[in-house]
Amino acid sequence: MQALKNLSIVLFFSSFSVLFAQKPQFSDLLQNIDSREKVSLNGLWDIIIDPLENGYYNHRLQPMDNGFFKNAKMQSPSDLIEYNFDTSDQIMVPGDWNSQMEKLYYFEGTVWYKKDFNYTPTAKELVYLYFEAVNYEAIVYLNGERIGTHTGGYTPFQFEVTDKLKKGNNFVVVKVDNKRKRENVPTVNQDWWNYGGITRSVHLISTPVTHISDYSIQLAKGSTTTIEGWVNVENAVNGERVEISIPELRKTIHSVIENGTAHFSIKAKPKLWEPNDPKLYEVSIKTTTDKLTDAIGFRTISTQGSKIVLNGKEVFLKGISIHEEAPFKTGRVTTKEECRILLQWAKELGCNYIRLAHYPHSETMVREAEKMGFMIWSEIPVYWTILFDNTDTYANAKNQLTEMISRDKNRAAILMWSVANETPESDARLEFLGNLAEEARKLDPTRLITAALDTQSEGENGKLIEDPLGKAVDVIGINHYCGWYVDEPENCSSLKWASAYDKPMVMSEVGGGALYGLHGEKNERWTEEYQAHLYKTNIEMMRNIDFLSGLSPWILMDFRSSRRPLKRIQEDFNRKGLISEQGMKKQAFYILRDYYLKENN
Ligand code: GCU
Repeated sequence: MQALKNLSIVLFFSSFSVLFAQKPQFSDLLQNIDSREKVSLNGLWDIIIDPLENGYYNHRLQPMDNGFFKNAKMQSPSDLIEYNFDTSDQIMVPGDWNSQMEKLYYFEGTVWYKKDFNYTPTAKELVYLYFEAVNYEAIVYLNGERIGTHTGGYTPFQFEVTDKLKKGNNFVVVKVDNKRKRENVPTVNQDWWNYGGITRSVHLISTPVTHISDYSIQLAKGSTTTIEGWVNVENAVNGERVEISIPELRKTIHSVIENGTAHFSIKAKPKLWEPNDPKLYEVSIKTTTDKLTDAIGFRTISTQGSKIVLNGKEVFLKGISIHEEAPFKTGRVTTKEECRILLQWAKELGCNYIRLAHYPHSETMVREAEKMGFMIWSEIPVYWTILFDNTDTYANAKNQLTEMISRDKNRAAILMWSVANETPESDARLEFLGNLAEEARKLDPTRLITAALDTQSEGENGKLIEDPLGKAVDVIGINHYCGWYVDEPENCSSLKWASAYDKPMVMSEVGGGALYGLHGEKNERWTEEYQAHLYKTNIEMMRNIDFLSGLSPWILMDFRSSRRPLKRIQEDFNRKGLISEQGMKKQAFYILRDYYLKENN
């Protein structure tokens, strides 16, 4: 009897699928590549720096079909024999080129990358060429044949290349272009360094011909006793079965594939994922030809008035904002160890929450944060003055949103998807962001939608939040630099806030700059004492905001930005970090830490 009780009822879902919400239209990204058999293409790649894109356009500015290499040996004279990878420079992948090569520090344009690799095809498998991220535009060629492009610097993309690989030597070439363009997302102005390159790992991923490509496995919205979702199986025939099991819960369920997807719902009472007990369950998914496992947490997230409610209990987000800047070596984060250093610093700060700004960070960062119990705000770089009336810009933003949610939809730690940062009010912006918020809800009805605003107005006795975008989001992020860009630190304690919305507010940015080791009076800008004083008065201010449900001050660590040239102080770094890029904690770090550790909010 007990065995029967423990085993969920084995249910075959076929006609039931109509009962489930239609599966969202995700991109075709392979889910959970950690669990896949893969060959890394990381390491030294040959590069050719091509500021005039001479390798792509002829002298009439017409694109050449396969770039300048019709074959790897550059035999025909028209192959621009000046472009020879065999004698070119080399650079590490993953990694940005700016911090790897002095002559590329400010470079914005095209760099050609090439990697030779051996491959031995095995029957009955498919092979995908998978890029975790390339900033910003990539055109990918395999063995001299153009196989596809991708736009957007912070989300993964893949190409199925089974029939394009040869036994023995193959070569992949990528044209990477990080030029900023007005119609891009982000647009031409941003307060972070425009690190270009193949900035995250590249893999050759093998799967069975009929394989599990994507899935969503989460608690049903508002429930703590129903786990539901869907599993996508490529090249499956209708009627084939999928088995989903959670051994620790002694639950196994079978579902039937219909049109490539198997829906399921399972009664269970999992231990809920919490910041101070980030429980993850091994979930295994099997078909007759494929099997993979993932580590998945289960939790509920909602709002009640101005409160954020995790697993039915009010939660206060004690956070910090983080850019994907590597500690010590600087440049883009490229390793799990660098992720863990940043997260360990956030732990020492007393955080239970992080804002991954201003773009999707690596899957490694998200998974490590989830294991450490951080609740996460994840966002796309719809930043400042992008072209809100441009349909291509919207399609780009929507694609980056889709790829972000597709990759991380099974990460319980992510509570919120943010669709924008500090965008100026206009009808076009309201429509653009309202549509993005709606799109995010279609893709993922379980999480909260937010945006960081800096449009607060002057109310009768303080700041008033009344941006119409507040209607479209669940949580209102507010960026406000009292004591830095506006006002003096001593005036911040008494600053009052009101909101037109009965929704949670998160102070998504607050703070000021300091050069580590620079000391002086608390009214001297750029001293650690000034920054510490500013944090004290802003904490006093936030204590008096009764609809505040969290904060993620700007920012954990100093980060490189071309907007920050001040000699002897900034030297190309935004100095609002609580920690210097060399890992030195400033006085303000301890002010915020004491607030987080001592406050029982
Ligand atoms: C803005 C913006 C950040 C920027 C910060 C600053 O609010 O969101 O990207 O770095 O302020 O000025 O330091």
